[in-house]
Amino acid sequence: MGMSYNFSMSYEGKAKIMKDGPSEGTMIMYFKDDVTAGNGKKKAVIEGKGKINKAITLKLLKLVEENAIPTHLIEDIDDRSILVKKLKIFPLEVVVRNKATGSIVRRLGLEKGLEFERPLFEIFYKNDDLHDPLICQEHAFMLELIYPDDLLIVRNRALRANEILKEYFTSIGFDLIDIKFEFGVDEEENIYLADEISPDTMRLWAKGTTESFDKDVFREDKADLLSTYLEVAKRMGLKIEGF
Ligand SMILES: Nc1ncnc2c1ncn2[C@@H]1O[C@H](COP(=O)(O)OP(=O)(O)O)[C@@H](O)[C@H]1O
Ligand SMILES: [Mg+2]
Repeated sequence: MGMSYNFSMSYEGKAKIMKDGPSEGTMIMYFKDDVTAGNGKKKAVIEGKGKINKAITLKLLKLVEENAIPTHLIEDIDDRSILVKKLKIFPLEVVVRNKATGSIVRRLGLEKGLEFERPLFEIFYKNDDLHDPLICQEHAFMLELIYPDDLLIVRNRALRANEILKEYFTSIGFDLIDIKFEFGVDEEENIYLADEISPDTMRLWAKGTTESFDKDVFREDKADLLSTYLEVAKRMGLKIEGF
């Protein structure tokens, strides 16, 4: 049938800028200091946030890659940029949840902090105009966002990446509550884990508590974003220049 995936273009998003890289099939992912929440309704510029998220993303992409999950990472560039494979990104936000918080608590009336027996896999349609709605797999196929076979692969890899990251964060004193992934394909339709992995895209609670070390501190005005993200970086053994 007529379905095919499309390559992303140079593009300025809410948190990053994607530019064509030095060679064919590559892109530079530049991390901005902008932070947004609630579909862009709440906004701020927090000096240094880009550097921190870049360093965290680089380390976590390497970690999952070492554990046999192919990622878009090619190499480090500078304190705000990494070189990645240019992909056609599935217009899906893939979420894995270990404990209930945020939208699932509101939608299903669950108790915040409820631990799922098995991690939950959810897909959201990446569409700002529609506010990234939760969708069923059937909707994704009807809208031709992804092939069924590719979604199976994405699901397996997202669950595996969640396991790897959960174990890692446990080892440095955090509970990984939930995480958002994006995946895409290259020219040969090989699937890679893409985008960033940072406190903007996951929820971390101090081990055994509900104290947030992620973007919820900004969403809910609970704490200072910069010092929160710096604490995550510090526990990850990262040194951020200038801090
Ligand atoms: N390897 C990649 N190739 C092409 N596009 C990518 C890649 N990794 C991430 N992207 C896309 O680049 C954009 C990153 O910028 P971001 O600020 O997060 O945008 P948005 O505001 O759309 O979330 C996202 O749309 C993401 O899907
Ligand atoms: Mg994004």
